[in-house]
Amino acid sequence: MADQTDGRRWPARPAGIAFGGDYNPEQWPEELRKEDLRLMAEAHVNFVTVAVFSWALLEPAPGIFDWGWLDRVMDDLAEAGIAADLATATASPPPWFSSSNPETLPIRADGTKLWWGSRQAFCPSSPLYRQAAVRLVEAIANRYATHPALAMWHVHNEYGCHNAACFCDISAAAFRAWLEERYGDLASLNEAWGTAFWSQRYSSWEQIIPPRTTGAISNPGQQLDWARFCSDELLACYLAEMTVLRRVTPDVPVTTNMMSLFKPLDYQRWARHLDVISNDHYRLNFLERPDTDLSLSGDLMRSLAGGPWWLMEHSPSAVNWQPYNLAKAPGQLVRDSIVHVARGADAVGFFQWRASQAGAEKYHSGMVPHAGVDTKVWREVTALGRHLEALSEVKGTVVEAQAAIVHSWESWWAAELGAHPSAALDVASHIRSWHCALWDRNVTTDVVSPDDDLSRYRLLIVPNLYLMHDEQAAKLTAYVERGGTLLVTYFSGIADGHDHVRLGGYPGALRELLGVWVEEFYPLAPGGTVQLSDSSAGTLWSELGRADDAEVLVSFAEGAVTGSPALTRRQVGAGSAFYLATHLSGAHLNALVSRLLDESGVEPVLRAPQGVEAVRRSSEDARYLFLLNHTDQEQDVEASGFDLLSGVQASGRLALAPGGVAVLREDPAG
Ligand code: GAL
Repeated sequence: MADQTDGRRWPARPAGIAFGGDYNPEQWPEELRKEDLRLMAEAHVNFVTVAVFSWALLEPAPGIFDWGWLDRVMDDLAEAGIAADLATATASPPPWFSSSNPETLPIRADGTKLWWGSRQAFCPSSPLYRQAAVRLVEAIANRYATHPALAMWHVHNEYGCHNAACFCDISAAAFRAWLEERYGDLASLNEAWGTAFWSQRYSSWEQIIPPRTTGAISNPGQQLDWARFCSDELLACYLAEMTVLRRVTPDVPVTTNMMSLFKPLDYQRWARHLDVISNDHYRLNFLERPDTDLSLSGDLMRSLAGGPWWLMEHSPSAVNWQPYNLAKAPGQLVRDSIVHVARGADAVGFFQWRASQAGAEKYHSGMVPHAGVDTKVWREVTALGRHLEALSEVKGTVVEAQAAIVHSWESWWAAELGAHPSAALDVASHIRSWHCALWDRNVTTDVVSPDDDLSRYRLLIVPNLYLMHDEQAAKLTAYVERGGTLLVTYFSGIADGHDHVRLGGYPGALRELLGVWVEEFYPLAPGGTVQLSDSSAGTLWSELGRADDAEVLVSFAEGAVTGSPALTRRQVGAGSAFYLATHLSGAHLNALVSRLLDESGVEPVLRAPQGVEAVRRSSEDARYLFLLNHTDQEQDVEASGFDLLSGVQASGRLALAPGGVAVLREDPAG
């Protein structure tokens, strides 16, 4: 039933690129199904995710199952040749469950209880919730194990989206068990959490609680372990379901949908337990560059997957959960979808098939809008279906990157704890700005963990990797010695795995590698800038230090830090290690990126006009150049190949329509 790819199972169906989305027929009269299936055929939909929020319907009373409607949906899908990504339906316990087991409701840090009447109203550590979920999964798995429509299991939905942390007494007990497992004895925990400070020493495990609302700053060690614990607790929920599914249907791949750069879950730890890495990405219109965030999320997913992945959800047009929900411009549905394919997705899914008539998301766009099918959205959905069919041969090809951004979730958690030098440090936004600068040059970038194999990259950018284990620092050193180019930015290497400051000068774990020594941070006030010796300016951060064993390329030229290094370079073995002690943006950031690309020899996929995204997917015998025009002007691109979308051969030059897309099958000889 499933192919094995790189140790991961991959759904055997659909054969080409998967195209579809969340299908919630339970919201509609059954008579509509014929029409749904006719429209799905018209749009070339070949997969749907079903039963995501169906627990209350499937198990209307404890232990009583009603399969009738889902049986008919699955049968109809099988008959129509549409693959089912069948959900385990555990994301929203029904009201009968929550009302009879109120101790399963999640509690916020301040003690507020979150009630049923929305979704995901459960405590991740609740044994009652886990038992009920596993019982439901067992029943669904047995019911549909051999159903011809079943292609993949969709565990839960967006773990932690609304209940990433629960601070109740049950969670407190689970936290203590997790800590005992981690530390073995209380003395080690006291040491790790630095409880000598503020009289926090614990003399019994029972005294330990989650970091609930406190009068002053709560213990950072406790908060960091709490973040680790919360990610692990939800992972345990996933694993409990996965174990049932693997036992009942060993050949059916299992996924759960991730949420791009979602802070609460350490996806680098989760990834190894998923057969298919799948992702939900929604345009964040409040970002400075919402377009490039799509590419970043794709690059992250590809890196987690180590190959192709699934875009499980994005929106056909507007969402309804932002303050102002912008509809997509004409053509944007197609272009945005293909951005994900360019970045390695072998599936394009939407939330949801039909825009709901009732319920909390009724103003969220659907593939079939409220207004019906004589609409912009439907025309673009069908155009996309045709395009994805034309791209079938791209399936399974890979995207190679010469550059990578190094990111770790535990460092992210630790870096952004309170009571730090600057509240303005925002790891995700810094990752985005480095990624944007590379995107603007069409340099394809992976997003990797400091524990991954780094040797295949020519250039590594390490933004604000605050918490660093000794082995990670050693790995970065070995990387540079062997010829890599490394850029580390401020507030990196500062703390060890317990969030204890590394003494003797910053940047702690990386002092020797970078050849710099910093004695004091001088973060800037909001909106402040600091002049640099090359007439540029930094923001957010500066520091007082010296270069012990590094070339100073730029120094601070203002205030108390005048003369301290702002940008340094140290030759180490065959490579070079740069250190940036401030925050750059715009032209200054771009100039540094250009220098790093020159030094590392990283080549862009293509030199294209600004706003034209170019990415290549390839296999041993084929190369595909994806070109995506993010501007509202026609753009002239120098490229050759057969455009799989238009069927036109480009010879040396291609006019890309405003917002347009081309996918060129290139001459494999290059
Ligand atoms: C996702 C979720 C979907 C739907 C969608 C709306 O987070 O998985 O069920 O709520 O957002 O944008």
